[in-house]
This record gives sequence, C-alpha cells and structure tokens, in this order.
Amino acid sequence: MKRIFTSETVGKAEETVKVAGWIHARRDMGKIMFFDLRDKDGLLQIVGVPADLGEEGTKIAETLRPEWVVEIEGVVQKRGERQINNKIPTGTVELLAKKITVLNEAKTPPFELDKDTSAVGEDVRLKYRYLDLRSERMATNIRNRNKVFQAMRQFLSDKDFIEIETPQLTKGTPEGSREFIVPSRLHPENFYVLPQAPQQFKQLLMTSGVERYFQMAKCFRDEDQRGDRQPEFTQMDLEMSFVQEEDVIGLIEEMMIKVVENNYPEKKIQQKPFPRMSYAEAMEKYGNDRPDLREDKDDPNLLAFCWVVDFPFFEKDDNGGPSTGSGQSWTFTHNPFSAAKPEFESDLLEKKNVENIIAPQFDIILNGFEVGGGSIRNHKPELLKAALEIMGFEGEQIEAQFGTMLQAFEYGAPPHGGLALGMDRIMAILQNEPNIREVIAFPKDGSARDLMMDAPSALSEKALSEANIEIKK
Ligand code: AMO
Repeated sequence: MKRIFTSETVGKAEETVKVAGWIHARRDMGKIMFFDLRDKDGLLQIVGVPADLGEEGTKIAETLRPEWVVEIEGVVQKRGERQINNKIPTGTVELLAKKITVLNEAKTPPFELDKDTSAVGEDVRLKYRYLDLRSERMATNIRNRNKVFQAMRQFLSDKDFIEIETPQLTKGTPEGSREFIVPSRLHPENFYVLPQAPQQFKQLLMTSGVERYFQMAKCFRDEDQRGDRQPEFTQMDLEMSFVQEEDVIGLIEEMMIKVVENNYPEKKIQQKPFPRMSYAEAMEKYGNDRPDLREDKDDPNLLAFCWVVDFPFFEKDDNGGPSTGSGQSWTFTHNPFSAAKPEFESDLLEKKNVENIIAPQFDIILNGFEVGGGSIRNHKPELLKAALEIMGFEGEQIEAQFGTMLQAFEYGAPPHGGLALGMDRIMAILQNEPNIREVIAFPKDGSARDLMMDAPSALSEKALSEANIEIKK
C-alpha cells in the first residue's frame, strides 16, 4: 500500500490507508490508546484498540514513545459531532489502527517538541536545530517562507524577469560592510571574497541585454550581529533596464501587496499606495529614516509600508573616505553605483555642491524596519568615475576595484535601476517573530556561530598548508 499524507485522510472515511510520521503525543484511556501522528502536514489522531491490533500489535503500540518514527495502516473513521477537533486540519477524522510498524526509535529530545519552543534557551535550540524545526511554529515559519519565495518568483516570471545565479566566489565591492575572505589554493597569496550583494553582476547583466533579472541571492557580510542581521542572509535582488524610479517602486509595491494579500489574508496593509516621504522629511518628522507608521503598534496583523526617497548621495565619512583614508571625507549613503537625480548631474560631473546632491535612491520600510533598498544607477562611465573620485578613490584604485564596470559601461550600457529586499526581515515581520533567526532554517547565533555544525572551527595543519595559510599565534 502506498503511504499517504495525514492531510489526505480527510474525505477518505471507511477507506483503508497507510500513513507514516512521528509520534507527537500519546494518551492512554484504559485499554484504548490515542496517539497524535505528525507528518509534514500536521497531526492525525490514531486510535489503538486491542481488538483491532491483535496481541502483537497491542504490544508494539504500548511501547511507542514521542518522536518514534512509525508507519500505520488502518481504517479512516469520521469522528462523532462532539469529537470533532477544529484546531487541526484532520480534526473531522481519525485512524483506527490495524497494523503498526516501528521504523525508528528516538531518544527523549532535549526539549519538548509538541509545544512552542520560543521559551527554550536559544543555544540548545540552535544546537538541535533539526529538532526545533519539528515544532509547529518553526515548521510553519519555514513553510511560509517557501510560499512567499514561490509567490515572488511567480509574480516576477509573469512579468518577464528571469532568475540568474551570480558567483559566490568573487571579488570585493565596497558596499559598506566588511567582507568574508576565502583563500585560494591554486593562487597563493590571492583571495576570493564572498559577495555582500550581487550588485556589480546584476548591473553587468543589464549591460548584457538581460533587461529583467532577479535572484533569490545569498549575501555575506561580516558585521556585528543584531536581531535583524545575520552574516549570511537572503535578498530578493532585482534589476531592470530602461526604467525610472517610479517603475521600480511601482513594481515592488504591486508585488508586496499581492504576496501579502494572497498569502496572509488575516493581515491588513495600513495604506495603499504606500506613503512616500523624502529622507529630509523622515529625519525631520521622525528623527530616523525608517519610521514605524503603524497606527496601532499592538496589532500583530497591521503592516505599515512606506517608501523613503530622495536620499543624499554622499555623507561625511569620519574615517576619512572609504578608500584612501587620506583626508577625503565623502562616502556613499547606499552604494557607490547610484546615479544623481538629473538636476544634479552637472554638479556630480563638476564635483561641486557635493553635500546637496540628491540621488534617486529609495528604501522600503515595513513597521519600522528597512526591508529593502535600491536606486537608479549611473550607467555612464564618466558619471560613475566622478562619483568615485568624490569619494576619494584614485586612478589605479578605481581601475582595480571598478575597472570591469567602467569598461563594460563603455560598450553601450542601458539606463537601469533596481533594488534588493531583505527576505529574512520581511519573513520575520510577516510571521510575527521577534528576530530573523526564527525564519531561517539554519541561522548563526548572536555571535555569528553555527552551534549545530560547530562553525567556524579550526582546520588541520594539512588543510591550512594547502590553502597557504599560516596561523599567527
Ligand atoms: P542593502 O545593503 O540596503 O542594498 O541591502 C538590501 C536589504 O538587505 C537586508 N539586509 C540584511 N538582512 C539581514 N542581515 C543582514 N546583515 C543584512 N544586510 C542587509 C536589508 C536591506 O534593506 N545592492 C543593494 C541593493 C540595490 O541597490 O539594488 C544592497 O545590497 O533589509
């Protein structure tokens, strides 16, 4: 007999079926035993009666403990009116067990999996993440994450975007964070870095004529950790050609509304279209550039999106510039690839009025969190070069760090722009979780360690020597 999922038992009353999964809980009522069987879809009540199980089957049933893996054949029965359990999807039926096979026994888990695990110490939850993911809340978070990813992929492919993977072993781009570096065995003294974002590649793809690109992209940033930051996180990264700010903003807004309304019908978007304000206005009115506009901050189903636009292109850099440290004191507010608004293009070229140059950059804010950002880019090499020079990058340095982009743009780069959404932050808010670790299957802890796999960890002498690394004690 082919195994079916627990959810499929509804509507199969009187049929003999086979289900499989984990023993979630057991309740003995005299001679009758009740079990909750759990599979990927949820719970199914199993009834074990000696008359149906026979002597040997009854003995097996008596030994079953939580988290044992079993296969059960039996007859689906409709529950009586008063036995219906509306809390579970299979609550109108139960399975009268005829045959139980134990597929694997289980040790007692380090914490209870049939309850919400959020009160359990996080270190133990992270060490046994594969068990924590069995709990209902965590399983739902991971499944809903997939639903939202699928919905975005569908929306974008309906609009002619194609998903393209960009490299993870690449070269550094100054985008504001420290990078993870990877030694190269084949090229001693040389290093790859892991991408902070696929920014340069997506712009090069526009130069390739792709026009509409997106990617559910892994990004890596060696930053200090916070509840809304992980060293490894996921962006919905997007770029499009022949567009203006309005096109990117409009597209993302349409997508977010659709994704929320189709997948979270219980949620309410406070204001549509999303309100917009300039950076200057946000700073003046709210004192920060990610205002929480919720009218009722205690309503877990309220979503207040907004756009913050018109960011200054440059800001003073206390460290003396991103590159040289040589007294040049401007750095970018977002990333160095942004354009200037058309009315500021001549200022940019002439490198004057720097503090007042406004960029077509936009952040999308949700309930006080920055959940995405993007801009219209500089597609003309001379403008990109001027921006880099304002930030203190010099001749050879520009060549070394941005040479590829500058060269590519000389071969007919189309005007283009895009944005990236922080998917972990969006999922944490949609799932009402207090931090992004709850919506990532295998996150790092607050100090960037993977407690389950024990990473980072020391390497053998041999591995170090192959990678041409000598440890400085
Ligand atoms: P930015 O650096 O603003 O833009 O990143 C986009 C979004 O990614 C999320 N994010 C993070 N999420 C979790 N952990 C982190 N460490 C982390 N860092 C950022 C945020 C943020 O809004 N290349 C540009 C995008 C573009 O211009 O197209 C970029 O990466 O939600």
